[in-house]
Parts: sequence; structure tokens; C-alpha cells
Amino acid sequence: MTAEKVQASDWNGRNGDQWVAHQASLDQMLAPFGAAAIAAAAPQPGDHILDIGCGAGDSSLHIAGLVGQAGTVMGLDISAALIERAGERARNSGSSALFQLADAARAPLPVATYDCLFSRFGVMFFDDPVAAFGHMRSALKPDGRLVFVCWRTAAENDWVSLPMGAIKGIVPSTPPPPADAPGPFSFGDGDRVRTILSAAGFADIALTPFDHAIPFASDVAAAVRRACDVGPLERALLHQSDAVRAQAMQAVGDAFAGRRTEEGVIINGAAWIVTATAA
Ligand SMILES: C[S@@+](CC[C@H](N)C(=O)[O-])C[C@H]1O[C@@H](n2cnc3c(N)ncnc32)[C@H](O)[C@@H]1O
Repeated sequence: MTAEKVQASDWNGRNGDQWVAHQASLDQMLAPFGAAAIAAAAPQPGDHILDIGCGAGDSSLHIAGLVGQAGTVMGLDISAALIERAGERARNSGSSALFQLADAARAPLPVATYDCLFSRFGVMFFDDPVAAFGHMRSALKPDGRLVFVCWRTAAENDWVSLPMGAIKGIVPSTPPPPADAPGPFSFGDGDRVRTILSAAGFADIALTPFDHAIPFASDVAAAVRRACDVGPLERALLHQSDAVRAQAMQAVGDAFAGRRTEEGVIINGAAWIVTATAA
């Protein structure tokens, strides 16, 4: 089972470029999770919201529509390619959302300014999460709130456990990094999330499991292509020979075949919706 390390710096290169290339389909896959987090954040007209690790800006654009002209949304991301895409989308759609290239863990942030710190899958990559969340908390108004959605463990998430399980014994595995290493599943352990947020000064910390079916692809061949194009499988196959890649893709296809439905290949996603207040 993969628990690969992916840290902030990895996003300013290959990871960011892959996300830009697959932005539309990734947005479709993540939309229900983002919608659940936005519902929990309940943005009000006039709210000022910071979207952390905003990527190509999908959640920022949605939230900008909810806070209206009196509110503001600032999307922060460390990936130049993704911030450029986010800005382009805002310009094309006439959105008021603003975007800034910045490392949310370190960049100077305006003090006590935001009603809500929000994130859709953008807060699991900090080297020092307590310091990062403490830093971001200083940007919250005293009555402000933190709301984010993050993945639960890799084992609970079919979209990664299925393909990565299928290539076991075909692609040589590397020893997994520690479970708390930065990466998509580093917040899978709810107790760890509570400990981090509490140490960073947050209160009223609540984690609610949110599971949703993900329409992964229209058919098995498309599902294999998609898994090989972006995410942990893409990275696992990166330096493999053509023969190993072919064998791995066959095994991944067999695994996805078990999830074929009339609506396409459907897999499960398992996330936490995390809420807290500035203590
Ligand atoms: C899984 S992607 C999610 C992107 C976006 N929120 C979405 O849902 O489409 C994680 C994002 O977090 C960003 N990120 C990672 N570490 C960051 C940091 N320290 N500061 C700002 N952004 C960061 C990455 O560049 C990437 O865009």
C-alpha cells in the first residue's frame, strides 16, 4: 500500500504540471468533496476567505460566487503552473477571486483578516504542520473558522488502494515513508489531525467522515489511462521499463474491471471534513 511522500516543493514541477493537464477531470472527481467542505464552511456574503493550496482554483471560484461583491477570496498556492491556470479561469469567468503564488506555511499573511481558512485537499503537504497551521491561524479573525477536506488513509481510498494493490509484485516496491510524512494521506489518522490543530492553537476541532463514489472514468481502458497519467500510480511507473509498465497496466485494468458499472468505472473516496475555530 502506498503512503508515498509528496511535499510542498514537489508541486512546483511535475506534480503541478500533471494537475494542470488533468484539471477538468480532477475537478470533476473532487467536486463532491469540495462541495461538502464548502457547505461546512458556509461562506456568507461579505466573508473574507483564504483558500489554501487552491490549485487551479475550482473551490476559490465557487466560494467567490457565495461571498459576493462585499466579500473576498484569496487563493494561495505554491505551484506557479496551477496559480497561472487559476488566474486565467478567474479572468475568463469574470470571477472576483484573486490568486497568489505563495508557500502558505511561510508567506507573510495579513493578520486577523480572514473569516475562514478553507482548503480542498491542499493542507497535507507541510513539512512542519504545527508551525504551518499556527502561521495560518494568525491570519484568522478571532471569531474565524478553519474548514478543510483531506483524504482519510490510503487503505480506505479505492482510487489509490485498487491500482497500487494491483501492481504489487510487478513493480518493485520501495519502503514506505513514515505515516506522518507529508503526502496525500498524511492526515488519514484523525487523532494526528486533532493533535496538530490543537498544538497550532485551534479549538472546537471536529472531524466528520465523508465518503463518496467517484466516477473515475467512462470505461476500464480510460480508467487505466487516467490512473497512469496522474497520482501515485503515475509516479510508481515513472522509471519502469516498457515491459513492467505493460504488465502493471494489465493488472490495474483487471482490478478496475471489478468496478465497472453502467455509469462507468466507479470507485470510492474516503475523506475527513475538518472544522475548527481560532481558539
Ligand atoms: C491535491 S492538490 C489540491 C488542489 C486544489 N485545492 C484542488 O482541490 O483542486 C494540493 C495543492 O496544494 C498545493 N500546496 C502544497 N503545499 C503547499 C504550500 N505549502 N503552500 C501553498 N500551496 C501548497 C499544491 O501546489 C497543490 O496545488
